[in-house]
Amino acid sequence: MSVALDHLEKASVDELRSVQLERMKKTLQHAYNNSPVYKRKFDEAGVHPDDLKSLEDLSRFPFTTKSDLRDNYPFGMFAVPQEKIVRVHASSGTTGQPTVVGYTQQDIEIWSDVVARSLRASGLTSKDTVQVSYGYGLFTGGLGAHYGVERLGATVIPMSGGQTDRQAQLIHDFKPTGLMVTPSYCLNIIEALEQKFGTAKCSLKVGVFGAEPWTNELRREIENRMGIDALDIYGLSEVMGPGVAMECLESKDGPTIWEDHFYPEIINPDTGEVLPDGELGELVFTTITKEGMPVIRYRTRDLTRLLPGTARTMRRMDKIVGRSDDMMIIRGVNVFPSQIEEQILHIPELIANYQIQICKKGHMDTLHIRTEMRKDNSDFMASQLAQQLKAKIKTMVGISVSVEVLAEGSLPRSEGKAQRVVDARQSA
Ligand code: DLL
Repeated sequence: MSVALDHLEKASVDELRSVQLERMKKTLQHAYNNSPVYKRKFDEAGVHPDDLKSLEDLSRFPFTTKSDLRDNYPFGMFAVPQEKIVRVHASSGTTGQPTVVGYTQQDIEIWSDVVARSLRASGLTSKDTVQVSYGYGLFTGGLGAHYGVERLGATVIPMSGGQTDRQAQLIHDFKPTGLMVTPSYCLNIIEALEQKFGTAKCSLKVGVFGAEPWTNELRREIENRMGIDALDIYGLSEVMGPGVAMECLESKDGPTIWEDHFYPEIINPDTGEVLPDGELGELVFTTITKEGMPVIRYRTRDLTRLLPGTARTMRRMDKIVGRSDDMMIIRGVNVFPSQIEEQILHIPELIANYQIQICKKGHMDTLHIRTEMRKDNSDFMASQLAQQLKAKIKTMVGISVSVEVLAEGSLPRSEGKAQRVVDARQSA
């Protein structure tokens, strides 16, 4: 099946770079002229939009961080008069003030286009029916996905998050071919399908999963249990929402960044220095077509690498290792939840639902891992499985942890983004 791609998806690298440069110049001018925040930031850093002669010159411009958004809560980052803003979204954030983002009609059109393009990259077409189980509301997941499905011309089932039994029932009755949901909530839906219908194998052929880090081990688990292709979609509200990058079905090798709208850089998170492609660091984005709230060099806190294009000309990003905020330092070793997930999924008797508690033992931080085993295992297996997981984590991650293996269904289930890490240090 060949579906027409947008011209720039397959354009030469030279053409892409020249389009990016032209758009970036316009965006810097727009931000400088219309956003008092950027005017002040550029002036303080002693740079002017005219200083950008090449894409590399972007490194001379200051970063934008979440605190810039917080400090200018709610609408201070907008670069157009309020009457041109047609929608706002907001993220609650785990601490402090929520961050607010705003879109013009043109921004919504482009957002719908990039999500439709993402769905096309997953193999879906106007003939498909897609169940959207990302939450609708202030979170960008639900509405962002929804507009993209409509733009593709496919049928959308606007299910939103929650009501897991009903999710399973609708999949059974409406027979969607695509599912958009967080990977952790997908596991929950799988359990409901298996309980209700004896199997999670159903009409679905592709899942478009994102909004949280997930491993290739979890991809295989979901693919096997549902009999689908599971693909990775990336995005963040400050930059747009879902659809900043999307994995292509034909290569399944990490999300392609839609670089004609979102210009990526990787920096050393400690020094701010730009790193060459291929090196691990913090992902930074500059929007190059956004009107309502352009962001210049936004620090995502997501850690990954930029990789050369494969299925498209545009560069890819490696799976997100984790957010720098989620990194735990245990006896000097940097640990991300995804490394623990990987080890859990290497043991077939364990379920991909887990919780990591950070505890204090004397002056040291330690980890206590709680996970579940499948129903068909007898109780006495629990301690053996716990020993096995403990040993794997010791060998592969390099830290000693305590492990508790519970009966299936003991731990809370995610209905959106899973909360994997619980800080139990205060109560210890
Ligand atoms: O999560 C947007 C989104 C919705 C993306 C639906 C994909 C699907 P925020 O709530 O602002 O926006 O959270 C953004 O979520 O900085 C990453 O840390 C994480 N994240 C998003 N997608 C992925 C992914 C939406 N595919 C934050 N892999 C980002 C890993 C992801 N982490």
